[in-house]
Amino acid sequence: MAVYAYQPTGSESEEYHKWYFNTFVWKKTTWMGVNCWKSVADMWNYQEILFELKPSLVIEFGTAHGGSALFFANIMRQIGAPFKVLSVDITHERLEPAARRDPDIVFVESRSTVPAVAEHIQRLKNDFPGKIFAILDSDHTKDNVLAEMKLLRPLLSAGDYLIVEDSTLNGHPVLPGWGPGPYEAIEAYEQEFPDDYTHDVERETKFGWTFAPHGYLIRT
Ligand SMILES: C[S@@+](CC[C@H](N)C(=O)[O-])C[C@H]1O[C@@H](n2cnc3c(N)ncnc32)[C@H](O)[C@@H]1O
Repeated sequence: MAVYAYQPTGSESEEYHKWYFNTFVWKKTTWMGVNCWKSVADMWNYQEILFELKPSLVIEFGTAHGGSALFFANIMRQIGAPFKVLSVDITHERLEPAARRDPDIVFVESRSTVPAVAEHIQRLKNDFPGKIFAILDSDHTKDNVLAEMKLLRPLLSAGDYLIVEDSTLNGHPVLPGWGPGPYEAIEAYEQEFPDDYTHDVERETKFGWTFAPHGYLIRT
């Protein structure tokens, strides 16, 4: 009945997206008491993807307080197969003890785009063979995100999942004028490597909005 009673104007999800971003509610969001700077709609989506994909390796670029790494580890433990979460940040000075002491998370203090990070991922792939779920949430400039995507290129295989977060910046739809960011990095990557990924549009659009528009990618 509600489906018939509800008459959308078409702008609800974009307005909610802008409200969510511009009120900084995402900065007041916690997972098990640890700051987790995400959209809760995306987090639910990630939980569903992880359960379906059952990866052996979660790779996160951009740790901050550690809330998202802890979220991934908690979900993965519930799934029950052996796994590791690798979380890379240029500095772990904000990393909270509740996340730092998690036995299934490897925290690496480094720029995300250096060869040593790729080597670390390769070692973890050897130790934890299987699918990979990777998420880019570090420096949101176009050049950095593009470099991260290229670093992951030889490391991801068909069926692996890549989330490029904060493609909402630069007017997609928040912070117009911010400058080229993740959204533009995805476009540039796809121009260079048009056959690497398909877009998981169904998941991207499932909850009506996401901080990763155009950024739900499945490796072909
Ligand atoms: C948006 S925060 C990460 C939020 C976290 N994933 C969460 O959901 O709570 C971005 C993080 O990226 C880190 N960072 C910035 N540039 C980086 C780089 N080149 N390599 C790795 N980490 C970087 C920052 O120090 C910051 O902690």
